[in-house]
Amino acid sequence: MPSVNGTDLNAKRAQVAAQVKCDILTATQDADNDAQRISIGRSFISDTITAPTTEMYAYALKASVGDDVYHEATTSAFEAHMAQLTGKEAALFFSSGTQSNQIALRTHLTQPPYAVLCDERAHINQYEAGGTAFHSGAHQVGVQPSNGHHLTLEDVESRIVLSEDVHVSPTRIISLENTLNGTIFPQDEIIRISKFAHSNGVKMHLDGARLWHVAAETGTSVKELCEPFDSVSLCFSKGLGAPVGTILVGNAEFIRKAKWFRKLFGGGMRQIGVLTASCAYALNNHFPLLPAVHALAQRIEQGLVDLGAVIWSSAETCMVFYDPSPLGLEYGEIADRGAALPRPLILGGSRLVVHIQTSTEAAEDFLELIKTLAEEKKAAGFVYVKPAKNVNGARSIYVRRKSKV
Ligand SMILES: Cc1ncc(COP(=O)(O)O)c(C=O)c1O
Repeated sequence: MPSVNGTDLNAKRAQVAAQVKCDILTATQDADNDAQRISIGRSFISDTITAPTTEMYAYALKASVGDDVYHEATTSAFEAHMAQLTGKEAALFFSSGTQSNQIALRTHLTQPPYAVLCDERAHINQYEAGGTAFHSGAHQVGVQPSNGHHLTLEDVESRIVLSEDVHVSPTRIISLENTLNGTIFPQDEIIRISKFAHSNGVKMHLDGARLWHVAAETGTSVKELCEPFDSVSLCFSKGLGAPVGTILVGNAEFIRKAKWFRKLFGGGMRQIGVLTASCAYALNNHFPLLPAVHALAQRIEQGLVDLGAVIWSSAETCMVFYDPSPLGLEYGEIADRGAALPRPLILGGSRLVVHIQTSTEAAEDFLELIKTLAEEKKAAGFVYVKPAKNVNGARSIYVRRKSKV
């Protein structure tokens, strides 16, 4: 029997094992998950909140159990499929869209000084913690689209820097986003920008976190949508409902270097077959659900229009942005009253997001809530006076745009 200072070593080991132990599942875990799934169906705050299904996990459990740093089989097969689907030479799996976007930019940018040009509303410009400056030391130029919807070649030309003058930071990448706020970037405009960029030696990156929605809505192949770009990042944990995962695609040399940066940034993956199999399940089973998601978003938009709310940004895919002030309503009171319903609705501000687990009933309950609140305001004497200018200077889109690529 081993002993240390007269104390039994096995007893000490057992003590440490007891300290290390971690019982994180609640006694009511299954019921908690069921409740969570119901609440997700009544939440309009994001499509990242979708819950993995038992069917998805059953499929994922059959995945290979290898270590991806040593080329795990399920992940390699998934990456090969994604390269083929997008028409690129190679693909690499990432834990998040932010990681994939940032490593894509870092991989393209080689010799400073350099700049990245993007839509000022883009995720890389607003919501990646200033990552482009931090990881790549790059100047990022956010351009406001003159039509309020998507960047045009003329917008790009007005801000791109092609000069080699020592005072400037030359644009090396144009990074576009499709969809952006749920709106579809017209493909002919993307091609115009891409031709111009490539003729000037500028790389094209696409944050296609929700490119699936464009393909599903317009019937355009993923390959065609990716064609104008040198690199594309596509997420599985948003509209497609996988728990984790983003793929980055590009040419073989680009992906080889991106994999190096992924390792350098601590993103080397191990037994991730369960994750990539979940993403494959999402492609097989959830992608076909997207047209119905878009139809539900359009139903909400039409309901809001019928009630007299203003639509800021139309439901071209899964999101609609609205302004309830013509009804005398504010976002805060709508969210509070939604949360107080016997079957609560979870609402944020102007953005309503529909996802594959949103219940149709929740959409109708939301419209009913707006109707009730508007009637209460009217009864209390509220009369809408149209402001001279658009509310908040919003770039309003009052008429639903037909989805067009
Ligand atoms: C357009 C877009 N790109 C990138 C991301 C980042 O993805 P992640 O949250 O996985 O880092 C998001 C997140 O919602 C997004 O909406």
